[in-house]
Amino acid sequence: MPTFSSSTVVIPEYSAVPRHVAIIMDGNGRWATARHLPRVAGHARGVDAVRATVEACARRGIEFLTLFAFSSENWRRPADEVSVLMRLFISALEREVVQLQKNGIRLRVIGELTAFEPRLRELIAQAELRTAANQRMTLTVAANYGGRWDILQALQTALREQPELAAHPERIGEETIGHHLAMAYAPEPDLFIRTGGEKRISNFLLWQLAYTELYFTDVYWPDFDAAALDRAIESFAARERRFGRTSAQIAAAASG
Ligand code: IPE
Ligand code: IPE
Ligand code: MG
Repeated sequence: MPTFSSSTVVIPEYSAVPRHVAIIMDGNGRWATARHLPRVAGHARGVDAVRATVEACARRGIEFLTLFAFSSENWRRPADEVSVLMRLFISALEREVVQLQKNGIRLRVIGELTAFEPRLRELIAQAELRTAANQRMTLTVAANYGGRWDILQALQTALREQPELAAHPERIGEETIGHHLAMAYAPEPDLFIRTGGEKRISNFLLWQLAYTELYFTDVYWPDFDAAALDRAIESFAARERRFGRTSAQIAAAASG
């Protein structure tokens, strides 16, 4: 698989605009609570912020946008909240695919999808198929996703494909896992954004975030917009990505 890229093996090329932005869309519940609304009202408004962010990212030339929509731990929430989230996911797939198609955006969904009801899985498969030829930007939605699940399933898949690895574990390399991650088609995220004020990864893309620039904002997800995105990109552009090297080395590489 030629798209495999590892920041610990090959240093990624410099880019002022991140190629890949990954976002933990957090704070829907608190946005609603602050307005004396039920938590699910925050999730509904969160869908509007998704639409705006997808468009803003595509306009800025971002190639990959990855959104954490539902974690493998979110099943621990009250059943009625989970079921509203599933209904919102279904209605978003029903309504938004046309727009994705118009904007040249490819949709992919990663996570343990077997846990979802058949109707939802069907819509996901249809949306992925309908947008498969689009090349302007790839939008990945992580649903029932967990970073640990991803690493484990990658290793399990590799061992299933190459059972001889079990007898020769020294042959297991970064690419063994990297090739089989759910998002093996994308480069590692350059910029990670978490809204809602919490400063944690919450089992998102554990493997790929090794050298990602982390950006945290107190803005609740329903309030996230193009201006908030630009602040994150501005912060990203001002950083020196060293990938283990010294500042002097970076300066020398830039001038020579
Ligand atoms: C993020 O917002 C949406 C999902 C996890 C599905 P939250 O629902 O976590 O909002 P807070 O963190 O409770 O405010
Ligand atoms: C992370 O948010 C998952 C998503 C945004 C989908 P959570 O609100 O579930 O994270 P924790 O529980 O605060 O770590
Ligand atoms: Mg939360």
